[in-house]
Amino acid sequence: MRPPPARWALPLLAMLAWSGTALAQGLSGTVRSAEEGPMGGVLVNARAAGSTITVTVVTDAEGRFAFPAGRLPAGPTELSVRAAGWDLAGPEKVELTAAPVTAALILNPATEPAMQLSNAEWIASLPGGDADNHFLQNCTNCHTLKQPLFSDHDAKEFVEVQLRMASYAQASSLLRPQVLLQDRVANQSAAAQAARRKVFERQAAYLAQHNLWQKEGFDFRLTPFPRPSGRATRMVVTEYDLPETTRQPHDVIVTADGMVWYNSFTEQVLGRLDPKTGETREWMVPTLKPDSPKGSLALRADRDGNLWMGLSYQGGVARFDPRTETFRMYPLPARLNRDSTQTTEV
Ligand code: HEC
Repeated sequence: MRPPPARWALPLLAMLAWSGTALAQGLSGTVRSAEEGPMGGVLVNARAAGSTITVTVVTDAEGRFAFPAGRLPAGPTELSVRAAGWDLAGPEKVELTAAPVTAALILNPATEPAMQLSNAEWIASLPGGDADNHFLQNCTNCHTLKQPLFSDHDAKEFVEVQLRMASYAQASSLLRPQVLLQDRVANQSAAAQAARRKVFERQAAYLAQHNLWQKEGFDFRLTPFPRPSGRATRMVVTEYDLPETTRQPHDVIVTADGMVWYNSFTEQVLGRLDPKTGETREWMVPTLKPDSPKGSLALRADRDGNLWMGLSYQGGVARFDPRTETFRMYPLPARLNRDSTQTTEV
């Protein structure tokens, strides 16, 4: 006769704990710099060597940080920080053990502060107002503002760059450019095309005035946002790397069994992540229109546990049954299915 589940579950858990990596008791410490002394609002990231999981906490007003006990495995652990304008001088590694460990982090002024600005910090730092640089927000749909700002294009080249950017599907990234099939511009009237070029010329002039064309460095002040303070420092963020850097989860959902499901905005991929271990499994979503941009947008689970995806430019919907690990595809009828058709929400 089989023993009831409760009796074998305990030894099994104990065995797993023995064979798996022991959890560290905790890691705490301080962050300081010669310039500021104790530094509040610094994001401190810890990642076990070889792991795909990064845990982040933030220093309080006195520059103290603490990772909750049991969040990080024992063993060699890599440390890094995020504080715009600052580099971590050290230590970059600590050895976590079953006993609590402390680390005293020292920061130096960043050697390349411009590399550390977020898109929002670039826009806030750039000269002019919203009317001049609002358009930069569109660029960040696909990549950071480092691409245009660190470039040395002149205004003429920038018009060509912008025409090329406008030829890409939203489902593009630097690693996966995807060209739109239908030529939206060719279908526009000559007047509309001329008006569009005028807008691009104005934006191109702005970009060529503020990028590195004929300049060694930026001639405006780079102003990082104030670091987090107060309640904004009381958080723990856990990040999970996905198997490929091209993955762009548009939707991430958690199903009743605690598993995390994700899709990729630019690829025919459905993935499952176990948040306890960071382990992932992926399935290739069948392609409906080989010449159209790939990728999916919405991802939802139904009551029976099937996953449903809107296939964007693939013009259809996919259903995945996790029990049989099979897809059932629902292409749109031909009369609705053009090059420009997108099925986003499901
Ligand atoms: C729909 C997606 C998308 C948008 C929106 C977009 N880009 Fe890009 N961008 C790309 C891709 C993909 C690449 C890499 C392939 C390439 O260079 O064509 C790229 C590369 C670049 C580069 C580096 C290559 C070069 O020619 O110098 C610059 C500069 C650039 N983009 C500027 C811009 C600007 C400025 C905007 C906003 C006005 C913008 N992009 C908006 C997709 C986009």
